[in-house]
Amino acid sequence: MSSSPLNAADGGPPKDGPSSLENLRTGRDVDLAKVDLTFEGFRALAQNPHLSANERIGFPETYRDGFEEAILRDIAAKLPALLGTGATIVDIGPGCAGLPHRLIDLCRERDHRLVLVDSAEMLEQLPDVAGVTSKIAGAFPANRDAVRNAVGQADIVLCYSVFHYVFAEGNPFTFLDSIVALLADGGRALIGDIPNISKRRRFFASETGRRFHKAFTQTDSEPDVRYNEPSLGKIDDAVLMGLIQRAQAAGADAYVMPQAPDLPMANRREDLLIMKA
Ligand SMILES: C[S@@+](CC[C@H](N)C(=O)[O-])C[C@H]1O[C@@H](n2cnc3c(N)ncnc32)[C@H](O)[C@@H]1O
Repeated sequence: MSSSPLNAADGGPPKDGPSSLENLRTGRDVDLAKVDLTFEGFRALAQNPHLSANERIGFPETYRDGFEEAILRDIAAKLPALLGTGATIVDIGPGCAGLPHRLIDLCRERDHRLVLVDSAEMLEQLPDVAGVTSKIAGAFPANRDAVRNAVGQADIVLCYSVFHYVFAEGNPFTFLDSIVALLADGGRALIGDIPNISKRRRFFASETGRRFHKAFTQTDSEPDVRYNEPSLGKIDDAVLMGLIQRAQAAGADAYVMPQAPDLPMANRREDLLIMKA
């Protein structure tokens, strides 16, 4: 059976193993579908002069180019305070591509205060807007005290397309606990764009998923859907349900939400919305 048209984080083709940081930093032909990305790996990609901004955040162009408005619209539907004014917003892992640039513009227009948390190498590629943006370099939640000292409490915490890297290399519950602790009363956190291998399996076991696979690969092959085996390093329904229970035990409401159907990975990714009363 051939592999399905997904990158490695979504449970796609088997990986070659971690690329050397040197190759990520300087290589001309980094195969983004096959690299095992970590916080350090992203730091290296951020410095690679041969890559586009989307590639520096680990996405082939076709996965993001032209989708930024639709993604921001879907985020704002789940975080309506973004469309108000004067909110304090923390973006964990903004990267350096189109999405944070649009978010910065929105924050400037709406008088929000935006705190960006990522590696120095990513952050230096984003503009500094006086009175709007501030930057805290380093991996969250290791730097949570610095974030807390800078922010106090946040009305919105956004963490988009980041959680699967945290899950692979850190403690997901410490990450979640630290986000819930940052939220002000009435605040919302969106841990978005989470590849869920259970959702992927459900999709590719369906007729629609099989047709999608054949059209994407332009072959007559069947998607590679496996059950009853460990999903090492991958997020599944059990992980998401565990995160919901953990957030709720900390006093917040939590929901797994679908992405708008016009988003490029809506058939295999989901969002976790956390709301404090
Ligand atoms: C796939 S990119 C997503 C970027 C952006 N949120 C977007 O959707 O366009 C992942 C980003 O998360 C950052 N990152 C990974 N682990 C992180 C952590 N523990 N704390 C802060 N940032 C992290 C990476 O450096 C990278 O910029």
